[in-house]
Amino acid sequence: MRTLLSIPLLALLFLANFISDVGAIAIDVNSTDSVVHAAWVFAHGMMTYYNGNQTGGAQGKFVNPYYWWESGAAWGSLIDYWYYTGDETWNEQVQSSLLSQVGPNNDYMPPSEATSEGNDDQSFWGFAVMTAAERNFTNPDSSQPQWLALAEAVFDTMAARWDTSTCNGGLRWQIFPFNGGYDYKNTISNAGLFMMAARLARFTGNSTYVDWAEKTWNWTESVGFLDQNYYFYDGAHVETDCTNITEYQWTYNPGIFLAGSAYLYNYTGSALWGQRVQSILDSMTIFFDSTTGIMYEQACEIAGTCDVDQKAFKGILANCMGLTAQLAPFTYNTIYQHLAQTVPGIEQSCVGGTDSVTCGTTWLDVGWDNTWGLGQELSAMEVVLNLLVQNVPAPYTSSTGGSSSGIAAPVATNGTAITTADRAGAGIITSVALLMMLGSSWWVVL
Ligand SMILES: *[C@@H]1O[C@H](CO)[C@@H](O)[C@H](O)[C@H]1NC(C)=O
Ligand SMILES: *[C@@H]1O[C@H](CO)[C@@H](O)[C@H](O)[C@H]1NC(C)=O
Ligand SMILES: *[C@@H]1O[C@H](CO)[C@@H](O)[C@H](O)[C@H]1NC(C)=O
Ligand SMILES: *[C@@H]1O[C@H](CO)[C@@H](O)[C@H](O)[C@H]1NC(C)=O
Ligand SMILES: *[C@@H]1O[C@H](CO)[C@@H](O)[C@H](O)[C@H]1NC(C)=O
Ligand SMILES: *[C@@H]1O[C@H](CO)[C@@H](O)[C@H](O)[C@H]1NC(C)=O
Ligand SMILES: *[C@@H]1O[C@H](CO)[C@@H](O)[C@H](O)[C@H]1NC(C)=O
Ligand SMILES: *[C@@H]1O[C@H](CO)[C@@H](O)[C@H](O)[C@H]1NC(C)=O
Repeated sequence: MRTLLSIPLLALLFLANFISDVGAIAIDVNSTDSVVHAAWVFAHGMMTYYNGNQTGGAQGKFVNPYYWWESGAAWGSLIDYWYYTGDETWNEQVQSSLLSQVGPNNDYMPPSEATSEGNDDQSFWGFAVMTAAERNFTNPDSSQPQWLALAEAVFDTMAARWDTSTCNGGLRWQIFPFNGGYDYKNTISNAGLFMMAARLARFTGNSTYVDWAEKTWNWTESVGFLDQNYYFYDGAHVETDCTNITEYQWTYNPGIFLAGSAYLYNYTGSALWGQRVQSILDSMTIFFDSTTGIMYEQACEIAGTCDVDQKAFKGILANCMGLTAQLAPFTYNTIYQHLAQTVPGIEQSCVGGTDSVTCGTTWLDVGWDNTWGLGQELSAMEVVLNLLVQNVPAPYTSSTGGSSSGIAAPVATNGTAITTADRAGAGIITSVALLMMLGSSWWVVL
């Protein structure tokens, strides 16, 4: 169990209700209390967009204009919020929300999202339940699916979609052929598979996942979505065999590959994964302003064209940087510096709205830019929260404190685990039964 907040800190949080009217949050990066207070303000800001408790509200997800993936990202960030601060305010909400979207097969494929769910969307819910397992977040009661089992099911369903029919492999963006984007293979979907594989490898110690992570990295590189500068591009269409690459660079793509590589480095101890962590981190300077060091979404922020999704990407990057600083400690100083240099940008941006603490999209030195939303609050929250990585243990594994259980092996009615031989036997029996059925219907037709 994590320790609860100290009494003075609770008093501070309580006070914050009043002083927030005054506007502007001063964030002292050297004071844990100050950083925790800022994280609380932004987490609270995030939750103002949740309407599940209002009459007619949607349980477990943030609604239009937020696509479903962003709810997964938001609940995952609130697990980290609790883990870093000890504040349990939203824990019950997070648990019930994560369980509300699992779908009939416990794999985050709810029929309600079928008209738009892509591999990337599914993976963000996968990251959230992986975070729950790694942070030893309260396990659901035994009648409910467990965090690790959900994460495994997300991985299994995604891996089964590996598609060699075009571009020599990779995942498509969309899951269902009837959705626009099924003809596109993109970096984020493959980043999702890579990250799930890397985290499951470290958590479970099963090397099959390492093979999958390597295979996904190899493909991303061979198709050119990752180049020799360690830049990650958006994706390409299958009609031209992924040769015509869309060259947008979004913060979350290198972010997820960075963190995934850090998990693999931490688990395998391999110098190659360590080198990849360092190389991606070096390439990321393009996402930090060259004079102030403030993080920005360079593909859309200056032009003011970031869409609703893109406004959350900096939060994903910050989350991934924090994980990396924990799992590959040689990156800590660089990562801490990137995050700390971004804080003044957040301070001067998050002065908007009727509460005077609403964050804008850009943190470059322009004041509040008159935008607001879940992505803006999530991004600010993740940056300040990840200043605290040294205060908490790194993600647990199943052998260091993660208590979540995975997909159980099928058990015979007498309680003995079914072996492969039993399954082969059962398969033969099924086939014989099938042949007999076919035989008898053949006879009926005759
Ligand atoms: C935080 O502490 C470091 C090292 O002690 C110092 O260099 C830095 O100026 C401090 N930052 C602030 C905002 O006080
Ligand atoms: C919504 O209601 C549930 C159940 O009463 C509660 O656990 C949760 O904290 C509430 N969420 C918010 C955001 O107030
Ligand atoms: C390792 O993971 C793979 C992929 O999910 C699975 O098929 C295999 O059974 C696992 N092996 C063990 C020993 O659990
Ligand atoms: C990935 O590529 C490396 C270098 O070419 C190769 O040694 C390795 O076997 C590949 N891994 C997989 C799983 O394809
Ligand atoms: C390549 O993609 C761009 C848009 O990203 C498009 O304008 C161009 O026509 C495409 N070229 C080919 C040869 O498909
Ligand atoms: C893995 O992470 C732990 C926790 O931060 C750290 O103590 C350990 O040194 C890391 N392993 C490697 C190979 O860096
Ligand atoms: C993880 O949670 C389990 C179940 O609540 C608990 O028994 C265990 O002590 C926790 N582990 C850590 C490291 O906190
Ligand atoms: C339990 O069932 C398994 C699978 O049907 C069988 O192989 C095994 O012998 C049984 N064990 C006992 C103790 O009856």
